[in-house]
Amino acid sequence: MGQKDFYITTPIYYPNANLHMGHAYTSTICDILVRYHRLIGEKTYFLTGSDENSGKVVKSAQEAGKTVDEFLSEINENFKKLYSSLNISYDQFIRTTDKEKHWPGAIKMWNALVEAGDIYKSVYKGLYCQNCETFYTDKDLIDEKCPVHHTVPEKIEEENYFFKLSKYTDILKEKIESNEFEVVPQSRKNEILSLMNRGLEDISFSRPLATVPHGIPVPGDPSQVIYVWCDALVNYISALGYGGDETLFNKFWPADVHVIGKDILRFHTAIWPAMLLSAKLPLPKKVLVHGLIISGGQKMSKSLGNVIVPDTLIDEYGAEAVRYYLSRKVSTFEDSDLTPENFKDAYNSGLANGLGNLVSRIMKMAETHLSLAPTLLEETLPGDYSKAMESFNIQKASDIVWEKIGELDLRIQETQPFKLVKTDKEKALEIISGLVADLYTISRMLNPILPQASEIIQKLVKENRSPEKPLFARKD
Ligand code: MSP
Repeated sequence: MGQKDFYITTPIYYPNANLHMGHAYTSTICDILVRYHRLIGEKTYFLTGSDENSGKVVKSAQEAGKTVDEFLSEINENFKKLYSSLNISYDQFIRTTDKEKHWPGAIKMWNALVEAGDIYKSVYKGLYCQNCETFYTDKDLIDEKCPVHHTVPEKIEEENYFFKLSKYTDILKEKIESNEFEVVPQSRKNEILSLMNRGLEDISFSRPLATVPHGIPVPGDPSQVIYVWCDALVNYISALGYGGDETLFNKFWPADVHVIGKDILRFHTAIWPAMLLSAKLPLPKKVLVHGLIISGGQKMSKSLGNVIVPDTLIDEYGAEAVRYYLSRKVSTFEDSDLTPENFKDAYNSGLANGLGNLVSRIMKMAETHLSLAPTLLEETLPGDYSKAMESFNIQKASDIVWEKIGELDLRIQETQPFKLVKTDKEKALEIISGLVADLYTISRMLNPILPQASEIIQKLVKENRSPEKPLFARKD
């Protein structure tokens, strides 16, 4: 049997501001999943990037008194710095302003949609929210305001190219219902199916050049640029060379999973697969839709002014603490609140008193009483843990690891090998060896979640020594 491939993507983020905890969340869970798939021996490809051809970027650059290019290169540097401090092990960072890498794919896709007879010109009348980069209908609004930003959308009337999304409603419904194109979790699958039951409307796929001056011109009509979503979604294949050297595309497409927040469900489970069907390309296998991180009771977003940035937490607690929090304390499928207070509690109980303390206790006993490391199991991962990872339930996988940590703590308490060693040395050594072997299994399970701690623990176990200082110092 050939080696299994695993292709995973994050959304491409808007570089109109630095990334906040919400963005860090999506990228971190992707990183956890990709590391898990590497751990089980699969060949993986992990794509992320930034969504640059938008009016928002032009506006933010102007506000910062910078050219668009200067502004973008600074923000992208910051994205990459954050990725490096959070240990996000991506293979490629795509930018949609990259004329060589991205544009040929977007143009090839546009031409394929035209060839399928799915693009037509019409007058667009609608309500546009600049912050969402989205057109709304009256029924989407709450008190005549954007449901996300609570601002009054702009009334727009202009000539656009449209995409025949409506044509694909039934076939998409069937593919989602049968899980040929799987939307995880079930609640999001139901949500998109109910939207489809009401019928999908054709959508605007271009904007006048003046609104997004640095966007991708529509082939054959330079007065229009390809509309943000039609441009952005194509990144998932242009990054693999679609429209250019298609080696990676042939190897990794279709994606195993697109990971997204619930705010962009419709784009990824209706518009994108419809575009792929129109272009006669295979659909991604799955879309994982996670909940949102809430701050002060609302979705964290720049325009709402309630962002928590990861850097502050990384500086104070370390990147592994942020990864721990995001994997264990944020529900994978539902919205979760984040406050600095519950972050500190989580750190102290899960890392300082939990994992860190366990490593010190076990390895101190091992160093004192064992002459070398016991036989270690390199291959196995507990079935429930693997099942949780395979079904993208990161929080559950993480809980399973911490349940095991709790079990070892309890075992030490109940068997007290540090005392037993005085009366029944053989039995005590057997217990300590068992604890070390199980700690090693825990360290393997931690590889995707806390890659640094995992490596340190494996080293300590193999060298049969205790850490010089606690893995995670307590914070008061
Ligand atoms: N550029 C588009 C995506 C195009 S993908 C072809 C976009 N960008 S975004 O920067 O606004 O948000 C991207 C993603 O960031 C969201 O889908 C979500 O995964 C993540 N998050 C943004 N805010 C979030 C929270 N408050 N909580 C959790 N994740 C959130 O939309």
